[in-house]
Amino acid sequence: MFVLGERVRLRAMEPADAEALWRWNHDPEVMRWMDAGYAQTLARVRTWLEGRERNAYGDVLFGVDAPAEPAAGWRLIGLVRLSGAEPETGCAELDVYLGEKDFWGKGFGTDAVRTVCRYAFEAMRLHKVTLTVVTENAAALQVYRRVGFVEEGRLREVFRREGRWLDKYTMGLLEGELK
Ligand SMILES: CC(C)(COP(=O)(O)OP(=O)(O)OC[C@H]1O[C@@H](n2cnc3c(N)ncnc32)[C@H](O)[C@@H]1OP(=O)(O)O)[C@@H](O)C(=O)NCCC(=O)NCCS
Repeated sequence: MFVLGERVRLRAMEPADAEALWRWNHDPEVMRWMDAGYAQTLARVRTWLEGRERNAYGDVLFGVDAPAEPAAGWRLIGLVRLSGAEPETGCAELDVYLGEKDFWGKGFGTDAVRTVCRYAFEAMRLHKVTLTVVTENAAALQVYRRVGFVEEGRLREVFRREGRWLDKYTMGLLEGELK
C-alpha cells in the first residue's frame, strides 16, 4: 500500500533501504538538529529494518519516495514516523527527516508532513499530532507552521550542539487544523 501525497508517496521501509539510512545518519548536515544516538554499523541498521515489527497503530514508519530524475520511477529521500498512537488519547508523535539533501527546499518536506498528518487524521482517526523541534531549526519550523502546527510550549536547554544548550518547541496540530 502507498499513501500518496501531491508529490511524494509514503511506503513501508525495506531492509534494502538500510544503506541510505546509514548514510544519512552519518551526514552532519542532515543530523544537525537531530539526536544522533550512538554510532551504528550498516549491518546493525539492516538488522533493525529486518527485525522491526510490522507497521501497526502504535508505530508507523514510512519511507518517503520522491520522483527520481529524469522521470525514472521513485527514489527514497527520507522517512516519517508516527509513534505512540493510542485510541484512548487520540495522539501520536511525529518525526520527519529527509536525508537526500539535493531534495531539500523543493517542497517535499511540506508534502511529506502534510501527507502523513492526513493519514493520521483520516486513516488512524487520531485527534492530534505532536512533535518537538529545536527552536533554531528554521527549515523544519517553516514546514510545521505551514501545515498548521502551532507552538504549545518551550523545553529549555534540552538539546546540545556545538557546545551550546538549545531549546526545543513542543508543537501540536489538531484534527481540522491541517492546511
Ligand atoms: C526539515 C526538512 C524536513 C525540510 O524539508 P524540505 O523538503 O527542505 O522542506 P520544504 O522545501 O517543504 O520547505 C522548507 C522551507 O524552509 C525554508 N528554509 C530552508 N532553510 C532555511 C533556513 N536556514 N532558514 C529559514 N528558512 C529555511 C525553505 O526556504 C522552505 O521554505 P519556502 O518553501 O517558503 O521557501 C528537511 O530539511 C530535513 O529533513 N532536514 C534534516 C532533518 C531535520 O531537521 N528534521 C526535522 C527534525 S524536527
